[in-house]
Amino acid sequence: MNEPSAVPHAAVIGWPVEHSLSPVIHGYWLRHYGIAGSYEKLLVSPDELSSVLSRLQNRGLVGANVTIPHKIAALQAVDRVTAVAERIGAVNTLYFDSGALVGDNSDAEGFAENLRANAATWLPASGPAVVLGAGGAARAVVVALLDAGVPELRLLNRTRSRAEALAKDFGERLVVGDWQERDASLRGAALLVNTTSLGMVGQPPLALRLDALPLAAVVNDIVYKPLETNLLAQARARGNKAVDGLGMLLYQARPGFHRWFGRLPAVTEALRAEVLGAMA
Ligand code: ATR
Repeated sequence: MNEPSAVPHAAVIGWPVEHSLSPVIHGYWLRHYGIAGSYEKLLVSPDELSSVLSRLQNRGLVGANVTIPHKIAALQAVDRVTAVAERIGAVNTLYFDSGALVGDNSDAEGFAENLRANAATWLPASGPAVVLGAGGAARAVVVALLDAGVPELRLLNRTRSRAEALAKDFGERLVVGDWQERDASLRGAALLVNTTSLGMVGQPPLALRLDALPLAAVVNDIVYKPLETNLLAQARARGNKAVDGLGMLLYQARPGFHRWFGRLPAVTEALRAEVLGAMA
């Protein structure tokens, strides 16, 4: 085993991992706060995941982020899973607690913090939320919105059975609708969130008419490539507050940085500019 080093090292574990923006975010914060530490990309195949995780400390790492395709498999490969990671059904952040490897998930917190920072007019109690999609990202969004206290969450997904599975897991505040009903589902809503991959570079656009959506509603797309999706442009044009998806990516990185490097970092315009520059 390596000698514990005074300088903390962390990493993002993925397969592939080259595209990950996490090193840009953590690298920016390390430099900005003048912290001696490092954050690297670790290419790990599914076959290697559990052995790599069991030897993380031996490799000198204080923790890691976990990305595609390991977020679900990591649940089984850690010593302990936090309550929120258990509910979301995926792990994105690893840290050590008294020598035990803990699998946590900061996506729900990242989603909620981004809305708090960029849509101060939205109050969870102000009305129903509409969530499009029922994949991995949707689970984190659903957990965040239920914990924030939304009275009703309308969940619509192309494959209805996936939405029904979420409703079964998360209870009666979830109301499942048909994908074809998505235009009408916006009536009276206070928040609309797209968690599908529609509108992402290389994917078809999200076909949605916003006519029924109240103008006071906030629209959040968790897609951030492109930053300004058609959905957000359409929302802005008619007067709705539009919140882009980059904020969730930035805010979800904070808890890991705090644990590994001992400082709760700030999400700032300068950080956004740094990440946008890396994406360009
Ligand atoms: P993630 O973990 O990023 O959420 P995912 O689990 O693959 O990724 O989920 C992708 C989401 O986008 C799903 O809700 C998916 O709908 P299905 O469950 O029906 O697959 C949705 N999606 C992807 N392509 C779509 C399309 N062409 N039309 C409608 N929804 C689509």
